[in-house]
Amino acid sequence: MDTVAFEMPLAMCRVVGPWARHAFFCIPATPVADIMQENAKALSRAGSAMDSRPFAREEKIQLPGEMAGGTGILVLSDELNHRSIVEGVRLSGCTVRAFQHNNMTALETELNRAIEQGQASGKPWRKIFVVVEGIYSMEGDFCRLREIVSLKNKYGAYLYLDEAHSIGAVGRTGRGVTELLGVPTREVDVMMGTFTKSFGSAGGYVAASKEVIAQLRRVAPGSVFAGAMAPPCAAQALQALRVISGEEGGDTGAKKLAAIRENANYFREELSRQGFKADVPNGLMLAP
Ligand SMILES: Cc1ncc(COP(=O)(O)O)c(C=O)c1O
Repeated sequence: MDTVAFEMPLAMCRVVGPWARHAFFCIPATPVADIMQENAKALSRAGSAMDSRPFAREEKIQLPGEMAGGTGILVLSDELNHRSIVEGVRLSGCTVRAFQHNNMTALETELNRAIEQGQASGKPWRKIFVVVEGIYSMEGDFCRLREIVSLKNKYGAYLYLDEAHSIGAVGRTGRGVTELLGVPTREVDVMMGTFTKSFGSAGGYVAASKEVIAQLRRVAPGSVFAGAMAPPCAAQALQALRVISGEEGGDTGAKKLAAIRENANYFREELSRQGFKADVPNGLMLAP
C-alpha cells in the first residue's frame, strides 16, 4: 500500500472524526461535500454535481425511477448487467426490457419498438433509459459506448453508465471508459461508480446534471433515510483518485494503470495458451 494514499483519510479523521453524519441534513455542511465537488471536477463531469453514498449499490436502488418518477419510464437494460442494476430497476416502478448483451442491433430494435409502440395505453414513453456497464464484471468486455451514445441520441433516450469496474482502472488517467473510448462525459446522462474497487475505500458516487443530483438528494431513500459516507472514506477515495490520475504520487498511478493492463493481458494469454476460451469480441480488458 502506498503511504501517500493514507495521509488524507488520516488527516480527515483528525479534523472531523471518523463518523458519518446524516446525508440529507449534514452533507452540504461537511468537508465530504467539498471532497465530492473535487471528485466531480476530477472525474471531468462538466457542469455536473456529484453525490456520495455509503454503499454504491444504493445509487441503483430505485434508479432511474427516482429521477423520473417510475411509471411511464422504459428501461432498456443490457441482459448481463450487474445484479444491483437488475434489482434497482425492478424496484423503480419502471418498465424494464433486457436487450442482448452489447448487441447494438438488439438495442436499436428495442429503441425502435419503444418509439413506435409507446406504452400499452398508446401514450409515448415519458423517458427511455439505456442502462449499461463500462466493463462487464463477469465477462470482462467493454460496453460499446460510442455506438450506444449515437443510438441514444438518435432516439432521444437517456444513458446510465455503471463504472464500478472501469473507473480508476482504464483510460490514460484512470477516468474510465469515456476517457478510454474518447466519448465526452456530457454524452452520458448519469455516471455511477463505486469506491470499493479501484479506490480502496467504501461507498460510491453518482454524477449527473445539477438538477438530477438535487432530485436524488430530495427523494432517494439512500439520501433521505441513511447516514452519509464517513469522511475518511470520502478522503480516501479522493486521494486514490489523485494518485491514479497522476496529480499526486508521481508516476505511481500510471504504473498501477499499466500493471492492470499487463496483468489482464497476461492472465488472458495464459488462459488461451492453456486451452481456455478467453477471447471477447471488443477490446477485452479482463478475462471471462
Ligand atoms: C457493476 C457493479 N455495480 C455495483 C457494484 C456494487 O458495488 P458496492 O459493493 O461498492 O456497493 C458492483 C459490485 O461488485 C458491481 O460489479
